Amino acid sequence: MKNKTKRTKSAIRIEELAKLNSATRYLEIGVFKGETFLDLQFPLMVGVDPDFQFDIEANKREGKYFIPETSDSFFKKLAEGHEAVKGIAGHFGDDGIKFDLIFIDGWHSYDQSLRDFENSLLFAHDKTIWILDDSIPQNPYASVDDYGKSLQYSNKVGVYNKAGNGHVYQTVLTIHDKYPDFSYCTLLADKYQTVVWKAPGGKRTPVCNSPEEIKSIDYFDMLNYAPQFMIESDDSYLELVGKINTPAKYDVPDAWERLLFSKVETMRERELLETVRKNPLLRLVARLHGIRT
Ligand SMILES: C[S@@+](CC[C@H](N)C(=O)[O-])C[C@H]1O[C@@H](n2cnc3c(N)ncnc32)[C@H](O)[C@@H]1O
Repeated sequence: MKNKTKRTKSAIRIEELAKLNSATRYLEIGVFKGETFLDLQFPLMVGVDPDFQFDIEANKREGKYFIPETSDSFFKKLAEGHEAVKGIAGHFGDDGIKFDLIFIDGWHSYDQSLRDFENSLLFAHDKTIWILDDSIPQNPYASVDDYGKSLQYSNKVGVYNKAGNGHVYQTVLTIHDKYPDFSYCTLLADKYQTVVWKAPGGKRTPVCNSPEEIKSIDYFDMLNYAPQFMIESDDSYLELVGKINTPAKYDVPDAWERLLFSKVETMRERELLETVRKNPLLRLVARLHGIRT
């Protein structure tokens, strides 16, 4: 059992959401070191990653599947009933493979994150809940689609950035425009994620005329669409899941300011913060001065 104080925000939210639909069947696209996946317990757990950063053999258990492939290849095999995914299919009945919770945290480009969402629709039911990770970039640097370039540019100017949030925000705007039968809200505390669920009957006016137009929305344009992200707090979002949610509710002056992650942090500031965090005395002094560590 991992140290509970080190749980990821994702794991905490996934468990909260799991209670809402009594989830037992969990899919995670993009697992990396397993910080979230290995901290969760569901009777059926499927993790997909072409480059797992831990020993998947040592972590195999009954009902736990590690698929060392891209999400595209995985969904293709699921759709085709490929031999390699037969074990997973065995956990479902005649309705076919339908996951209760789907955490999309793989490649963060627009095309890939949208494809992951759209491919997963075939393996979802009316109460399935999705969590789209990194649905808002932390800063303009983190929104550069190419992770290498994102780090290169931010390092050059000394801005702390290790997120590589990419263009998942464009996928959220696509869900807004193209999938009115799905509702969602975006959470900002510690980790920017959008929670999506099915809520038929929703009506929304599209903000763009085509996928190309959505694709052309950069970080700064994105700030103009703040209401469409439907920002909620971690205290309130669980009550919304399953209901129709509408951007009109979030259309307040200066809504865009809420999308700013916090102030942009320099690497020097980050180093100092790390030093303070490691030292109990410095932490106390910081707290006395009202500085959050
Ligand atoms: C941000 S990490 C995932 C973190 C993990 N979900 C967690 O909460 O700890 C992103 C992962 O996505 C994986 N990835 C990249 N492209 C992918 C793809 N096409 N399909 C599935 N996973 C992919 C990477 O190998 C990387 O391990």
